[in-house]
Amino acid sequence: MRKLLISKWSKTGVFLLCLLPLASLVWRGLHHGLTANPIEFITHATGDWTLRFIVFTLCITPFRKLLTLPDLIRFRRMLGLFAFFYGCLHFTTYIWLDKFFDLKEVWKDIAKRPYITVGFLAFVLLIPLAITSTAGWIRLLGGRRWQLLHRAIYISAAAGTVHYYWLVKSAVLRPLAYGAFVAALLLWRWFEKIRARPGGIKATPLKSQAGI
Ligand code: HEM
Repeated sequence: MRKLLISKWSKTGVFLLCLLPLASLVWRGLHHGLTANPIEFITHATGDWTLRFIVFTLCITPFRKLLTLPDLIRFRRMLGLFAFFYGCLHFTTYIWLDKFFDLKEVWKDIAKRPYITVGFLAFVLLIPLAITSTAGWIRLLGGRRWQLLHRAIYISAAAGTVHYYWLVKSAVLRPLAYGAFVAALLLWRWFEKIRARPGGIKATPLKSQAGI
């Protein structure tokens, strides 16, 4: 498994996999497969994938520790940037295809409709994370400050889940499942923090834990 993770093609492979949701949308667009309401279909697909990529990004740290696969860290930045990428597509679909760049209308929606307000918060929080995702920014901010800033992804995940929960009328099962998963990831991180404290619960250390 490790060989596969560190192979020079693994990043290209993951990159291409991450493009599949977009490719599927383009394919459907070219083959009249975007249903009778294409704007709604694209908004929902891009929203779904934004949330999924946020969750994939959050899974990297627990998975590398629990599965003893430290090399998974190689993919975290890419997954986070894809969350931002699909978030941009989602937001662009809304302001372009739904609101025709009527920024006054967009602003009214953000201010008046709670599910749009939290969705906007979730998206805005991803912007500094995408900007500061480079090695240069890690050096500039210093590891601790960078880690602190990047915890905002948990707030973004929670806000994205609330956004989803508030917009669905009756099918609450999926947003609730996302909520439970994000809560489990948060609990795991909290448990790990307690375990790492002097006098905390003993754990077998994992070699070369460079990431958070
Ligand atoms: C990280 C940020 C965001 C995430 C994770 C996210 C996620 C989602 C999800 C999961 C859905 C539902 C998809 C489905 O039903 O299958 C959705 C729908 C939607 N989102 Fe977002 N969203 C985000 C940001 C935004 C922003 C910034 C806006 C607009 C300002 C927005 C506007 C909408 C709209 C209009 C819908 C469709 C609502 C409806 O069908 O009634 N979202 N979003």
